[in-house]
Amino acid sequence: MTNVESDSPATTETREWDASSYHRVSNPHVDWGDAVLARLPLRGDEMVIDAGCGTGRLTERLLERLPEGGVIALDQSANMLDQARMFLSPRFGDRVRFIQCDLLAMPFEAEADLVFSTATFHWITDHPALFARIYQTLNPGGWLIAQCGGGANIATIANRALAILRREPYARVVGPWDGPWHFAGARDTVARLGSAGFMHAEAEVVHAPVTLDDESAYREFLTTVVLGAHLARIPGTGPRVAFIDEMVALGGGDDPAWTLDYWRLNMQGQRPPHEE
Ligand SMILES: C[S@@+](CC[C@H](N)C(=O)[O-])C[C@H]1O[C@@H](n2cnc3c(N)ncnc32)[C@H](O)[C@@H]1O
Repeated sequence: MTNVESDSPATTETREWDASSYHRVSNPHVDWGDAVLARLPLRGDEMVIDAGCGTGRLTERLLERLPEGGVIALDQSANMLDQARMFLSPRFGDRVRFIQCDLLAMPFEAEADLVFSTATFHWITDHPALFARIYQTLNPGGWLIAQCGGGANIATIANRALAILRREPYARVVGPWDGPWHFAGARDTVARLGSAGFMHAEAEVVHAPVTLDDESAYREFLTTVVLGAHLARIPGTGPRVAFIDEMVALGGGDDPAWTLDYWRLNMQGQRPPHEE
């Protein structure tokens, strides 16, 4: 695995994930990702970047569509990449390469036919910089086809978590913080893709709520998938457990209980085949 040290300043927060838990509980992400994979116009011999590959469950399906091609599986989390490498290397060998870096510092110039990404862009707040970097990684004529959280994505949970963290004993350690995500809208996304140089820019926000089976599944999902950045800001096991306990109790009172009100932002755009 390559760990890229870049001269350009990384402007996103770096943190680790519980990769074995994510691999187990990320079924909603695989379902959403399958719909994105179905939209990819692949011949089978392309070079594709999976930008924010996580533990590789969707990278596997991408590789199955590329019998003559290859994938660069890129993520900033060492844990996620270790899990992805264990999962993918035995089956796909050198058709998949693993690179640990921030998407804002991807070290490629005109090397990919496609950038595919799911459930990652909302962790990066500077979308103009992200789209500019992706544009440069693509070959002329290459496509960006991606999905992330957008619009009113998990607004109830996001607001609840911030309301708790703005009270003591959290407020004095967490300080003024608006949360880790940028849930962009479709219109802004089309405009930003266009400003970065993409043609055929399209975006839409779709409703994709998820109801988990029970309290224990909801607790693990919040802890691993949704609130990791919040938990990383809370020092001490006791306060972290108290924070999750409160979030879980509130989730049990939702109608229906254990539901996450997900909205997904689909986007695509093409680097022009011939640039002026
Ligand atoms: C919710 S997971 C999605 C993983 C996979 N694409 C999926 O759909 O299951 C988000 C992933 O994005 C990665 N990530 C977040 N911000 C990143 C950044 N700035 N650069 C690279 N990876 C990032 C995280 O480490 C994590 O593996």
